Amino acid sequence: MKADPAPLPKILVLVSGSGTNLQALIDAGRERDFPGQITAVGSNRPGAFALERAAQANIETFVVDHKGFDSREEFDAALMAEIRRHNPDLIVLAGFMRILTTDFVRTFRGKMLNIHPSLLPKYTGLNTHQRAIEAGDDIHGVSVHFVTEELDGGPVIAQAEVQVAPDDTPESLAEKVQEKEHILYPIVIRWFCEGRIQLGSDYILFDGDILKAPMRLPDN
Ligand code: GAR
Repeated sequence: MKADPAPLPKILVLVSGSGTNLQALIDAGRERDFPGQITAVGSNRPGAFALERAAQANIETFVVDHKGFDSREEFDAALMAEIRRHNPDLIVLAGFMRILTTDFVRTFRGKMLNIHPSLLPKYTGLNTHQRAIEAGDDIHGVSVHFVTEELDGGPVIAQAEVQVAPDDTPESLAEKVQEKEHILYPIVIRWFCEGRIQLGSDYILFDGDILKAPMRLPDN
């Protein structure tokens, strides 16, 4: 008799908005050899379109509405309880627009990833496309990083670049960056689920070696 295959790592995705990155992951998850399984999608916004995308794909959803809590700590405690219920191997922040408490981040250290629309350490926080244009940057892009206590400051696993055209607006640049996001995030999540990337104290191990610089998605 053949032994049952090992269960796939469970992925829980947190979202706040339209969920195009979630969609890219759902699509990647449909590939026959994808090494993980999205088992739940959670949102802090009841009306997030991302929740509809999850429902369409028959993925369990939950909402912890931040408006129902007096403090960040209480919200994070409620979110943590929901996450524990699903017991994921990996938490993927995909446009999840809440700052998480230190306690929360420490609890899930090494198993929480974020995608951020800039070439970190440049432009942490908001309005990254506008800031890249204002700074006159020729190159902009996206980073996937481990989430640590420092906002958008955890070790970067991989990046993808886009060229900034002289006539780019924040909107046109966002579109170019998102195209790269949808390619990059599934690749990194695949690596994580295959056990190829681990977070050390302040470094990343990739296939057992310290990653000296973020992996780069080749240009097209
Ligand atoms: C993405 O562009 C992602 O990089 C950004 O939010 C967008 C979500 O889009 N995340 C952040 O700014 C986090 N600091 P989506 O809901 O269509 O995936």
